[in-house]
Amino acid sequence: MLIAIPRIPKVLFLSGKGGVGKSTDSTMTAEALAKDLKVGLVDLDVDCPNVLQFLSNPPTCQKTDTKGMHPGACGNLQVVSLAFELPKGMSMLRDGKWRAQMVNEMVSNIAWDPMPNVVVFDMPPGTNEVHTTILQYPDIIGAVIVTTGHPASLEDAARAIDMLHKQSFFSPGYPNGVPILGAIDNMSAVVCPKCSTRTVLFGKDDVQTALGIPVIAQINFVPGKGVDPSHFEAVAGLIKKKLEEWK
Ligand SMILES: Nc1ncnc2c1ncn2[C@@H]1O[C@H](COP(=O)(O)OP(=O)(O)OP(=O)(O)O)[C@@H](O)[C@H]1O
Ligand SMILES: [Mg+2]
Repeated sequence: MLIAIPRIPKVLFLSGKGGVGKSTDSTMTAEALAKDLKVGLVDLDVDCPNVLQFLSNPPTCQKTDTKGMHPGACGNLQVVSLAFELPKGMSMLRDGKWRAQMVNEMVSNIAWDPMPNVVVFDMPPGTNEVHTTILQYPDIIGAVIVTTGHPASLEDAARAIDMLHKQSFFSPGYPNGVPILGAIDNMSAVVCPKCSTRTVLFGKDDVQTALGIPVIAQINFVPGKGVDPSHFEAVAGLIKKKLEEWK
């Protein structure tokens, strides 16, 4: 059963395939948005939560009391993640029912302070009960599909897109499916620091044709934590435009 919550616009980062950059791209987009908006970032990867690893300035704690979960805060950004609470190295041997309950908690029982203008959700891989639970909530203003150009990633991304279309089948809030903002083509190429030669890493370098949705950003593979934050301005800009339309 869904719990009544204040209307907060939500953006989902999902991919189907694991390890393609959802956590990297969702945290960097949340940080770009937080330059001038109040932003929530919710880590719905409840088995292996790791958004804190990708934030440039991760908050140190979150607490839970009778009012709900109190996010960890850093400036305009409030972060909700089980990583704050789980002992490092401990596996989550839980079933789908627990995961769905956790999603309900992390969507509807957060003591936001202040209320964010938008909440970014970092999704786990797959198309499972975490996804089907969040997709039953209203006010999802858009989904960002993160993929590489590898055929396996594109195949799984297509399944994630199909799930967003199928949602119209059982969620009256999205008569035309959950809106898709576009794709992030992540780890698309490496650029030689000496000669600037661009080498495509996977596939045919045409995510747009493969998935039939626009590419919002093409992010090169950069070793270490060197992904350029300016790439996420375009993604943040698109989300801000959607927020204006949503008002
Ligand atoms: N553009 C990039 N350049 C270099 N490394 C990257 C890039 N994007 C992501 N990575 C690295 O790839 C790995 C996987 O990224 P990330 O954890 O964001 O993927 P994910 O889709 O969230 O994975 P999961 O499905 O397990 O949640 C991380 O080590 C991350 O630092
Ligand atoms: Mg992740």
